[in-house]
Amino acid sequence: MTIKEQFDQNIIIAGKDPKWWKEAIVYQIYPRSFKDSNGDGVGDLKGIISKLNYIKSLGIDAVWLNPIYASPNDDNGYDISNYREIMSDFGTMSDFDLLLAEMHKRGIKLIMDLVVNHSSDEHEWFKQSRSSRDNKYRDYYHWWPAEKGKPSYRWSWFDINSNAWKYDATTDSYYLHYFSEKQPDLNWENPRLRNEVHDIMRFWLDKGIDGFRMDAFQFISKDNSYPELPIEIVNKPVEIIKFYGNGPHLHEYIQEMNSEVLSKYNLMTVAEGAGSTPIEAMKFVDPERKELDIAYHFESVEIGKHLHDFGLVKYKNMFSNYDTVFKDKGWLAIFLANHDQPRMVSKFGNDSPEFREISSKMLSTFILTMRGTPFYYQGDELGMMNPRFETIEEYHDVETRNKYTNIKNKGGDLNAFLEEQKQIARENGRTPFQWDANKNAGFTTGDSWLKVNQNFKTINAEAQEKDPKSVLNYFRKLVQTRKDNPAFVYGTYTLLDKENPNVYAYMRELNGKKLLVLLNFTNDTATYNLKFKLEKHEVILNNYNDSTPVKNNQLRPYESVIIKFE
Ligand code: GLC
Repeated sequence: MTIKEQFDQNIIIAGKDPKWWKEAIVYQIYPRSFKDSNGDGVGDLKGIISKLNYIKSLGIDAVWLNPIYASPNDDNGYDISNYREIMSDFGTMSDFDLLLAEMHKRGIKLIMDLVVNHSSDEHEWFKQSRSSRDNKYRDYYHWWPAEKGKPSYRWSWFDINSNAWKYDATTDSYYLHYFSEKQPDLNWENPRLRNEVHDIMRFWLDKGIDGFRMDAFQFISKDNSYPELPIEIVNKPVEIIKFYGNGPHLHEYIQEMNSEVLSKYNLMTVAEGAGSTPIEAMKFVDPERKELDIAYHFESVEIGKHLHDFGLVKYKNMFSNYDTVFKDKGWLAIFLANHDQPRMVSKFGNDSPEFREISSKMLSTFILTMRGTPFYYQGDELGMMNPRFETIEEYHDVETRNKYTNIKNKGGDLNAFLEEQKQIARENGRTPFQWDANKNAGFTTGDSWLKVNQNFKTINAEAQEKDPKSVLNYFRKLVQTRKDNPAFVYGTYTLLDKENPNVYAYMRELNGKKLLVLLNFTNDTATYNLKFKLEKHEVILNNYNDSTPVKNNQLRPYESVIIKFE
């Protein structure tokens, strides 16, 4: 019985405010690295279309596509030069229309990336804006006239000198770019700009897309007097996010967007980087405030190089604190990876040959059984892992390259930097999807834009299709298990065995039906303590592929178990 039927028959209690996007499992596709159809080495829309049956076979409900708009690709599509055109590397607008139609035919929804904190410097607005001080597009961006002296320092994520103000001689002024110098920040304080953004959103919504993932959204509102950046936070990205985020008019702008656009369509919106605390995140998605739907915060991934260093107890508390604030209203995204992160198994699990598969399955179990909408990143269903590039030439990412140059210019330790990138670089998660054991993992017949992980001969989708015990087939079972058990969507979450440093244990409960999830985050046998007896129970899924009842409160290395009680 579907969740909707259970609601209709009052099997699920009323008052849970059912929404398709709460029940959905979202699969993230990084188009550049998914599937190339024309042999130019870059993934494209026709490539995605050719793999829709695979995507459907996963059982997921919606796809979030990273930006596919026209772009000079300084930041792989996060620098948009035309919001109403498709990037030529990816195809044409008719390819897009076909993709959307074919997805909808299969019952899959499409979420697009909305990147409007900044545009490309090659966008027509910016070309106009920089041409003269009295151009009508001047106020679409943030400018600081040089005669006022140097603007107060702003840190930048991707600038070679880490300076977000760039001097532009044409008008003897500086413009602001929180990201690369080819990504000037848009000026949301200008109502004309906000109207333009609303129009762009209507353009895509009228085509029938099902939602937006709002990129870097907490930064859109700025204090145009540019107060001094507190010196103690310079070079501390997490602190900078707090300083840049939640500008004075942020929520006003989102509420305006809601009344102008969002309220008029049936869509889902998810805010990337929704504040730095659970309370701030709630502000984006509290239904009474009429803003957005899902908060996608960074705390689950901003933990340094590896979960071991951070500690499981702290990690469990972080999730539990969010859940407490979101217990009665609001909604969260649950994820462990995306295109800005290393591979999930390399960061949170164990990618050694012995434990890669089992720990991948355990982490997938976590994502699909927590309270919140799972956002699952392409390739994690195969247990894809970090490629561990050795040289700077193997990287293309503006962030890695510019940081490398910055360190080089300062005479810093480049080897230490490259070692660290093996664990934290964004491109760890962007290597091409491993389809089969053919050249370039079946991703392209040409030269791949980014090196394929050399383990593709053993780790690939084709091989895993044939193996009932593969990570891929386990993922499919997990998807089905979530769908069969509405408690995973609408049930409460209770943390158990709180201080256990090795095991994450929690209960999901709905209408008296209880689901216990036990996850061993270590490569050793681990013991848990539940404070109640596990008498009559049924193991409904176990990543060791057996239904052995759990014994002596022990879990095998990286074991995950889902247990049902009545
Ligand atoms: C977001 C994107 C990231 C991009 C940045 C600037 O964090 O996920 O890939 O580089 O915004 O647009």
